[in-house]
Amino acid sequence: MDIPWWRDAVVYEIYVRSFADASGDGVGDLAGARERLTHLKELGVDAVWLTPFYTSPMADGGYDVADYRDVDPLFGSLADFDALVADAHALGLRVLVDIVPNHSSDEHPWFRAALRGEGRDRYIFRDRPNNWQSTFSGPAWTKLPDGMWYLHLFAPGQPDFNWRNPEVRAEFLDILRFWLDRGVDGFRIDVAMGLFKAEGLPDVKDQSFMSDSPVWGRPEVHGVYREWRELLDTYPGERMAVGEVWTDSPEDLALYVRPDELHQSFNFAWLQAPWSATAFRKVIDDTLATVPFATWVLSNHDVVRHVTRYEAADPGTGLSRAKAALLTMLALPGSAYLYQGEELGLPQVEDLPPEARQDPVFVQSKGELPGRDGCRVPIPWSPGGDSYGFSPGGVRPWLPQPGSFGALSVASQTGDPASTLEFYRRALACRRELIRTIPYELEWLPSDADTLVFARGPLVCAVNCGTGPVRLPPHESVLLATGPAEDGLLPPDHAVWLQRPVT
Ligand code: NOJ
Repeated sequence: MDIPWWRDAVVYEIYVRSFADASGDGVGDLAGARERLTHLKELGVDAVWLTPFYTSPMADGGYDVADYRDVDPLFGSLADFDALVADAHALGLRVLVDIVPNHSSDEHPWFRAALRGEGRDRYIFRDRPNNWQSTFSGPAWTKLPDGMWYLHLFAPGQPDFNWRNPEVRAEFLDILRFWLDRGVDGFRIDVAMGLFKAEGLPDVKDQSFMSDSPVWGRPEVHGVYREWRELLDTYPGERMAVGEVWTDSPEDLALYVRPDELHQSFNFAWLQAPWSATAFRKVIDDTLATVPFATWVLSNHDVVRHVTRYEAADPGTGLSRAKAALLTMLALPGSAYLYQGEELGLPQVEDLPPEARQDPVFVQSKGELPGRDGCRVPIPWSPGGDSYGFSPGGVRPWLPQPGSFGALSVASQTGDPASTLEFYRRALACRRELIRTIPYELEWLPSDADTLVFARGPLVCAVNCGTGPVRLPPHESVLLATGPAEDGLLPPDHAVWLQRPVT
């Protein structure tokens, strides 16, 4: 069987607003991303995922789309997009774009028409709200001057589409075609378990992300992905789609990646697992038992950066555990998604002043929830200046960067073998060499309960989640280690890749 490119791909998430600013307005843009593609090539990833850059009033950082077929001037133009794709392809990098089908912006022409009373059936209007809450906090309903209410599972500026209306279905097929024709290699599907709501919109007791809830994971959504898959398959070049599916069950997750649906789905169970060999083993076993093509992710623009998560659980361990989790994830069968800045070991910026925070989670919760700005602070490229190289000189970025970012910048870490960045480069280079020579299947090797040891052909990965050093399994050589692996011992909070003799 020919192995599709995405099966083992390492995909790098570019949160466009915070990656690189070429225009000098303090906000990242497509031209900035294009200028920095060589960083990604040198890092050794296979593809990039661009977060939304479409026309948007930015009620939710661009996840509120007013025109699905154009670029917001904040981020550039369609010409900038085309140039970025051309350069990425020339470098051998694939490009995924974000598609936001659950809701539009309240400035989308369809919603503007709905406000005038035209075509309301494209959205979800009721004369009375139910008890659903916005994921960002507060009610999921907003009342219009004419007394009608509309549903928004996120910000009020993000009205939910009515996916039972065939016009919505047809529109999204056309939007996919638009970007496929422009040469994208695939899509990341926002809130992929959303879209349909239970008929009658019944009140709920619990609105958390669960399989088969009235709010999320309705069975009808799979028909949409079957149509999308059919469309993707009509294009050459292995175009693909990865779904953002939050669910409490691996079996539910598996439904989205049936052979005639999406190619991949994010595996958030991995990101949610605590630093524990038992927890990791369970997620790995559940995943491999249920999905044909696994994915792994530790951080993204919605969650606290994993260095900080691990550090909060056990002070002093954050960076070492983060690197060990990376080695584990890169050794597991399937594909890995990296979030910009994790290759620099960037921590969550937890002390952003309230007046700087922009996330609707912070705003809607009236400051009760910190929101997600702390993982979205612009990337430091160089050790000094007004924005550590994120914007042209003299420009302050849209979120303030902490002083610690200078020493963590790309330029500061490049060439320093002890840096996180060089560790990521080594790990990705080593994986690239190995990946096509090892089997997809994973084999558990004996270990104590606090240690994970697994093999794929000649590659052995060992991770110590315990409190004392453990003896390394038999090996011919050490390929890569997060720290000292001397005297045949692996210290706590560390991981290692070993080459074992092939029998
Ligand atoms: C998931 C996106 O990743 C997040 O940033 C956004 O706020 C919600 N979906 C709503 O679109």
